[in-house]
Amino acid sequence: MTRVGIIGAGNIAARHADVLSGFPDVTIAGIADTDPHRAEALASKHGAPAYGGHADLLNAGGLDAVYVCVPPFAHGNPERDVLSCNLPIFVEKPLSLDLQTAEMIASEIEQRSLPSAVGHHWRYLDIVQQARDLLAGRPVRLALGHWLDKVPPVSWWLDRTMSGGQIVEQAVHVLDLARLLVGEVTMVHAVPAEEEGSADGPREVRGEVDRATAAVMRFAGGAPGLLATSCLLTRKHRVGLEVCADGIALELSETRLLVDGERVIEDDGQAKMRVDREFVNAVQGKDADVRVPYGEALRTHRLALALARSAVERKPVMLDEHHS
Ligand SMILES: NC(=O)c1ccc[n+]([C@@H]2O[C@H](COP(=O)([O-])OP(=O)(O)OC[C@H]3O[C@@H](n4cnc5c(N)ncnc54)[C@H](O)[C@@H]3O)[C@@H](O)[C@H]2O)c1
Repeated sequence: MTRVGIIGAGNIAARHADVLSGFPDVTIAGIADTDPHRAEALASKHGAPAYGGHADLLNAGGLDAVYVCVPPFAHGNPERDVLSCNLPIFVEKPLSLDLQTAEMIASEIEQRSLPSAVGHHWRYLDIVQQARDLLAGRPVRLALGHWLDKVPPVSWWLDRTMSGGQIVEQAVHVLDLARLLVGEVTMVHAVPAEEEGSADGPREVRGEVDRATAAVMRFAGGAPGLLATSCLLTRKHRVGLEVCADGIALELSETRLLVDGERVIEDDGQAKMRVDREFVNAVQGKDADVRVPYGEALRTHRLALALARSAVERKPVMLDEHHS
């Protein structure tokens, strides 16, 4: 039995706990949350002990791996403590609010040669593999990414200092896919929507996230790209990536691939299971197809942070190709 601990007991932790509980060779060995009621609620569903903080979970011992499912602002200490116990680690995106924290964690994982994975489950969509096959030998010449959605129902999301904003927190899935299908990005220029202030001043002064952003990107292979994000809507409207290559247009969402505007290929719906299964395989020392270990997610995180910085500074940001 592989014994997994979970830090953070919110929405995404519940999803991973459900998937992991469905594996016959995995046990949820304990769940920690700074809100003990949340820890207790999720732990009791899985017959596991609940802890008020991650240190208590780690001190209880007997773990083979740990999932870190905390909000963006809470990354850093949980990962540091998990790694100091020499345990394989699964981390939810985004990796952190800043680059320094994520780089410190990446270097610790590398030094200890520990298995790692990040929750970029889109990489495990079977339609992504089909898109790659359709594009074989045809470099992408244009990429259009979208995340046009509502504000997610978590208390910390609208506060920029807690979530990092929509590009870092949500569109990072689309950016990760763009890096896979198009390549590394060398320049970004993001423009946030300007708005009239309320009585408390403009949203950015109040520390809230931008409600809409448009960005231009340049990929190392020469393709230009666009990214549009908005959280002004009442429901998820358009989330995904379109790419054009010689003689072909592909439109990918989390559920389907549209080829040349007419042929629809539905995804098999197994990506959220595969992302956990492959990590568990790696923990067990088996052949594993972990598509986004921590170091790979760090490259996507750098891109998202560069876009966020560009929007704040109102000017283009160059990405260091040595890091790509
Ligand atoms: N990969 C995906 O598809 C996907 C989907 C949803 C959420 N997420 C990511 O997962 C993260 C969490 O999102 P969520 O919706 O579960 O949020 P949430 O607010 O529902 O849950 C987060 C939990 O972490 C707890 N927490 C905060 N700081 C902590 C700490 N230091 N130690 C232990 N627990 C702590 C909170 O009390 C809360 O219960 C976000 O970064 C989000 O982007 C990823």
